[in-house]
Amino acid sequence: MSIHKKVRRVTTHVLSEMKLRSEKIAMLTAYDYSMAGIVDSAGVDIVLVGDSASNVMAGYETTLPITLDNMIYHAASVVRAVKRALVVVDMPFGTYQGNSMQALASAIRIMKETGAHAVKLEGGTEIIGSVDRILSAGIPVMGHLGLTPQSIHKFGTYVVRAREEEEANKLKKDALRLQEAGVFAIVLEKVPAKLAASVTEELNIPVIGIGAGKDVDGQVLVLHDMLGITQEFSPRFLRRYHNLNEEIRGAVSSYVDDVRSESFPGENEQY
Ligand code: KIV
Repeated sequence: MSIHKKVRRVTTHVLSEMKLRSEKIAMLTAYDYSMAGIVDSAGVDIVLVGDSASNVMAGYETTLPITLDNMIYHAASVVRAVKRALVVVDMPFGTYQGNSMQALASAIRIMKETGAHAVKLEGGTEIIGSVDRILSAGIPVMGHLGLTPQSIHKFGTYVVRAREEEEANKLKKDALRLQEAGVFAIVLEKVPAKLAASVTEELNIPVIGIGAGKDVDGQVLVLHDMLGITQEFSPRFLRRYHNLNEEIRGAVSSYVDDVRSESFPGENEQY
């Protein structure tokens, strides 16, 4: 029987076992109690409290403005709902780059105040001091390479990363360095499928792709994008499983009509 069907709780060990057995890992974001409960009960293996909350929950243009307090609020709400999946929390911009003691303090706050199981950091060799320090405290770390949205002002655009040999080689080195440090998995965002496949083959730890093709160990999407709640964001890699934006607007406009026409509440909807 597949290991994901057997386990009552997904741990980092379960994920490495899944890689060993070539069982694909399903990961999705969630930011609040109600959605996290649905996502978890539908069977995802990893719930990511992504700093994409900055975009989809708070309406900022980038992931940079979201704060550690904001992330802790979202993560604590998600943890209260999740019974099976591993909960990973993004460390927000400015809480880990450049100062490993600050990184450790931020990670400890996340773990203590939310009850989450792991943190995710963007970057490779340049943040390895922070990764080492967090790992030394026994906190599991997930890496994130390729398109790293916290560096958007350095990149200038959200186009596919590591198409050129030099950047692809750096990405491979970063992935190996993160694995050597002890991260339990790496997210690869928006990189050529061939590169993602070769990194996945070379690493012993799971590689989770977003816009990285199918030859990786698992996939992640932003919940609001795959449900069709967000409409303006339409990259090629995004598969929309629903058009919830239209459905919710339809339901709300029916409610507005019913209130205006006084057909709500009805006889049976009052005391
Ligand atoms: O913040 C986020 O949602 C993410 C995923 C896109 C991997 O980092």
